[in-house]
Amino acid sequence: MNTKPESQSLAAWVEETREGIDSGRFPVRAFNDQAVYDLEQERLFSKTWCFLAHESEIPHPGDYVTRYIGNNNLIVARDEHGEIHANLNMCRHRGNVMCKAEMGNASHFRCSYHGWTYKNSGELVGVPYMKEGYEGRLKRKDWGLVRVRVDSYEGLVFGCLDPEAPPLDEYLGGFQFYLDLYLKHGLGGVEVHGPPDHWIADTDWKICTENFAGDGYHTPVAHQWGFHLGYFPSSGSTHSQGWAVSIRGKGHGIGLGHGPNFPPFGGFPDDLVAEMKQSLSPEQVEVFSRTRTAVGSVFPNLSFLMQPFSLEPGEIGVRFVTMRLYHPVGPGRMEMYSWCLVPKNASQEYKKEAYRAYTLAFGQAGTFEQDDFENWTKVTQAAGMTMVRGVDFPYIMGMDSAPDPEFPGPGHAVVPYVNDTNFRNLWSRWADYLAGEA
Ligand code: FES
Ligand SMILES: [Fe+2]
Repeated sequence: MNTKPESQSLAAWVEETREGIDSGRFPVRAFNDQAVYDLEQERLFSKTWCFLAHESEIPHPGDYVTRYIGNNNLIVARDEHGEIHANLNMCRHRGNVMCKAEMGNASHFRCSYHGWTYKNSGELVGVPYMKEGYEGRLKRKDWGLVRVRVDSYEGLVFGCLDPEAPPLDEYLGGFQFYLDLYLKHGLGGVEVHGPPDHWIADTDWKICTENFAGDGYHTPVAHQWGFHLGYFPSSGSTHSQGWAVSIRGKGHGIGLGHGPNFPPFGGFPDDLVAEMKQSLSPEQVEVFSRTRTAVGSVFPNLSFLMQPFSLEPGEIGVRFVTMRLYHPVGPGRMEMYSWCLVPKNASQEYKKEAYRAYTLAFGQAGTFEQDDFENWTKVTQAAGMTMVRGVDFPYIMGMDSAPDPEFPGPGHAVVPYVNDTNFRNLWSRWADYLAGEA
């Protein structure tokens, strides 16, 4: 075993990592290391488009949530005109936190230190002792909250710290086709079912992004109880059927698992399927109708999963969608946000059933979640051991897979679904950012 000295420069390590990915190797150290974490803050989260909120979390003027991009805490608020803004949650006077709640409704934020007051859009409107103290030298328009770029796709609000970064559309690069599988559930789209489940986990955020970029390999093993008890309407041996699709050079990836004999759009109510056929393109309908499980990640740290889950063992199940955000808070440590998305136009009864299915499988106490985090925290612990320096993981599944020429969607689609192609694409994008070349 090659245990490299700690003195190897980080830049050299990143270069070596980039070269290794092409031959199907990725270093264990990436998943729990202070220097790697610091470099991610500096070079990755400062440049990528990161998910902030779903529009339905802040539907009314004044509604806000506080969220993060990297280590930057932001207030994401809807102003009186309905426009959404993201501003750094820091007073421009001496840096106090402006908003201490995670969500709420406010037209203004008043600093608890010296009383500067800002509109929820970020403009400074109130300064105590303005005349006597500043004697006309302070121009309020110059001292608003620090603004962050925002853009949205189908209700997903993203922010970007880099004013020079390409627009969101270009960043998503065709992955919108797959996001629609989670978002265009009927003509009304989707909404969040309540606030997110939110907890801290001793897990590196990248392990989650990778798993949700299409790790069908772990499902029949880590979640085998679901098959055995009949909650998951398929058998483990057939779970590998389907496509793994990646958007080359962008880092996004999705696994589209099929179920043998699984009915088209199985698990959705009929009226919703009729609406989906109107809201989706014919190519999307072709892919979507055959997909039983869709598990995808938007680079760097947002994921989605849609699958049927049987509330009564043996039944076809109810489709639910979970959206999750992995916010890194230290090497090998993250805050998890997990939402259930439901179709706006569905009946209350279906929304309730879908939420029940989500809660049984995902969220803080979800059974699938427990299975996954048990493994992910152990992987993270292992990655923090000193002897793992110089040790790699194999990413050689599907090294020679050619893209499926029949596949109707964008991106690089390979079969079988159990494949490392999406992960090589993910790590290659990650390494580009760390090298400062994204
Ligand atoms: S720190 Fe906010 S008013 Fe002084
Ligand atoms: Fe899992």
